[in-house]
Amino acid sequence: MFNEIIEYLNLGSKKTIVDATIGTGGHSMAILERIKPDGRLVAIDRDSESLAISRERLHQLCSNCEFIHENFAKLDSVLESLKIKKVDGVVFDLGISSYQLEDPHRGFSFRNDGPLDMRMDRNSYISAYDLVNNLNEEEISALLRTFGQERWHNRIAHLLVEERGKHPIATTVQLASIVIKAIPPRFRHKYYRIHPATRTFQAMRIAVNRELENLEIAINKAIAVLEKKGRICVISFHSLEDRIVKHTFRRAASEGLIKIITAKPLTPSESEIQSNPSSRSSKLRVAERL
Ligand SMILES: C[S@@+](CC[C@H](N)C(=O)[O-])C[C@H]1O[C@@H](n2cnc3c(N)ncnc32)[C@H](O)[C@@H]1O
Repeated sequence: MFNEIIEYLNLGSKKTIVDATIGTGGHSMAILERIKPDGRLVAIDRDSESLAISRERLHQLCSNCEFIHENFAKLDSVLESLKIKKVDGVVFDLGISSYQLEDPHRGFSFRNDGPLDMRMDRNSYISAYDLVNNLNEEEISALLRTFGQERWHNRIAHLLVEERGKHPIATTVQLASIVIKAIPPRFRHKYYRIHPATRTFQAMRIAVNRELENLEIAINKAIAVLEKKGRICVISFHSLEDRIVKHTFRRAASEGLIKIITAKPLTPSESEIQSNPSSRSSKLRVAERL
């Protein structure tokens, strides 16, 4: 939904835009083209490697850009440190990038074997290894149910605890194969359109990075710093995120802070899904500051 984001942000020269999830800079490149020569971009990511890539990629377009390694939940203090009081647009493109997913060392993918890490910010303390090897069975089960909406949460948690009694679960492929083994054989393929370990990996990633609590905080902070008629655009990738965006927007609308532009979330076209299958579950919600 690249084109929709760019369209809904109402870009133009002199605007100040926050890309709260710059990743490797795809959205920001298009934003910069439309706010030059006098616009300002504040680019945030909690992943220092992605930030370095986007900085390198965009530096020729950037006369007035700030690249900040921070959690977007600290949006207010980021802007305060830059002495920026109001902005014209904020974009959140949630989740992880294909750059992060495809790097086996980051431990996000069950397809490439790597250490069980999943930290977006490698300075943070807790990794997926810590959760998988230290939480008790009930805690793992609750985590899989709440953050993964995983039907077989009890069975997976039970087998994980049994297996880690033999040796620690240290890699992504180890975790994925335990998940597959825990699911009754007749459901392994029938029940899942997706890989059977997808929900477990989603749940672990959300917990490691505390993704849901950061999101609500950040949306409220973004709304607070928007200029009148400024826009906030949020792309989410699963229903847990989308529910938070929807409710946070509704609450702000009921307080008279914003007008919701997308009564229903926008979803990708068939052709976008064909060319980028991972966009299949994405939803875009947009609101405007009153
Ligand atoms: C889907 S990617 C963004 C891709 C980007 N729009 C592009 O065009 O390349 C999501 C990015 O958000 C970052 N991210 C996720 N949660 C974050 C948070 N709480 N604070 C800052 N960055 C975050 C991830 O590290 C990742 O780089």
